Amino acid sequence: MTEQSATLKIGDKSVDLAVKSGTIGPDVIDIGALYKNTASFTYDPGFTSTASCESKITYIDGDAGVLLHRGYPIEQLAEHGDFLEVCYLLLYGELPTAAQKKDFDYRVTHHTMVHEQMSRFFTGFRRDAHPMAVMCGCVGALSAFYHDSTDITDPHQRMVASLRMIAKMPTLAAMAYKYHVGQPFVYPKNDLDYASNFLRMCFAVPCEEYVVNPVLSRAMDRIFILHADHEQNASTSTVRLAGSSGANPFACIAAGIACLWGPAHGGANEAALNMLTEIGTVDRIPEYIARAKDKSDPFRLMGFGHRVYKNYDPRAKIMQKTTHEVLGELGVKDDPLLEVAMELERIALTDEYFIEKKLYPNIDFYSGITLKALGFPTTMFTVLFALARTVGWIAQWNEMIEDPEQRIGRPRQLYVGEPQRDYVPVSKR
Ligand code: SDX
Repeated sequence: MTEQSATLKIGDKSVDLAVKSGTIGPDVIDIGALYKNTASFTYDPGFTSTASCESKITYIDGDAGVLLHRGYPIEQLAEHGDFLEVCYLLLYGELPTAAQKKDFDYRVTHHTMVHEQMSRFFTGFRRDAHPMAVMCGCVGALSAFYHDSTDITDPHQRMVASLRMIAKMPTLAAMAYKYHVGQPFVYPKNDLDYASNFLRMCFAVPCEEYVVNPVLSRAMDRIFILHADHEQNASTSTVRLAGSSGANPFACIAAGIACLWGPAHGGANEAALNMLTEIGTVDRIPEYIARAKDKSDPFRLMGFGHRVYKNYDPRAKIMQKTTHEVLGELGVKDDPLLEVAMELERIALTDEYFIEKKLYPNIDFYSGITLKALGFPTTMFTVLFALARTVGWIAQWNEMIEDPEQRIGRPRQLYVGEPQRDYVPVSKR
């Protein structure tokens, strides 16, 4: 890591700050000693210019529309890999050999069942509960079952917890869906691959054999790859902050799920499909484009824009291709939602407002159309995002725990409240 320095002048004081360079991407100015040397904090709501950690896992070049996982471009991983191979890469830093892949698949597959008493949690929820509410509760509750993998100081227990999370999320997500639609839970089958197992747990019924459609399970697997990890996004930062206090991994992932739920983040796939449905027809698009540009209107084009990507989100391109594959396989011609989405994208990408603000479709813009075509209700879309992102959260959580610079995260503030004052008895107020 090469180091230069920056000089900061505050009044008559000047402070030298180390400048660190990474492998690729922007340098960072180390302000760790700033408060000690200047009695001042930095101020950066939303962390638009703040690096919270060093990481080797994922790199995004927002201007170039580049996404690398351990150095491998997302396009190549989505084209040639499968989701468990990407999980191995994110967790261990290298692509697995054939033997390592076989062993990893076996280990994950043999953790897919959940403790039978987990099913009782579901009966406590209303059938119409949002599946994300169910997932927040049930994933956090895993801490109540797997005490033998909650000691975060033990690398073996951390890895067991990591495999359990990756393996059990599809089972819990499928259970949340089945409970939502009032159908019996379906147990995982060890002779199915990860995505096929998940689709079967969601869509099989006791009355008939479920036949996996290889085109659809490949599409599902690729959708998982596209959602696996994404640097220090809001939910990953939530998991890291929760983990910095020493909380157990299941509780940290539950915190990540809660953060992902928001419509500005992972909840955007559900919101984007609801928006396309509300627009309904191509002729109503100009009305919504106008609303998106109107500062007095809180409406935003869901599935558009990104904190980092100021170019096309590379995942959105792959997702759009997957959408056409799935609709083609299902024989869906002229899907009105796809027609609205493609026309909305075409108009937005030629509109000065969106060009000037560098607003492009993100991963959530097309995913909803694909997931709806696969048979999922919109309320399940963010659950699927959480299922796939669990490996990213877990890989980042492990990296944080193993980071020698790691300490509890505790930001400061700019206080703008009342100066100290004395209590006034109620008789004198
Ligand atoms: C994800 O961080 C990640 O990596 C997230 C994610 C991941 O994989 O983890 O990529 C997943 O969360 C993708 C984003 C999904 N969210 C949405 O699609 C919701 C719609 N998008 C916006 O809410 C917004 O673009 C954000 C939240 C994604 C980004 O917000 P920023 O970086 O804080 O941008 P901003 O709100 O400051 O917007 C900059 C300008 C503003 O105008 P001005 O105040 O400068 O005049 O662009 C405008 C915004 O009003 N703008 C939009 C817009 N997004 C931003 N205007 C209309 N429609 C939009 N979608």
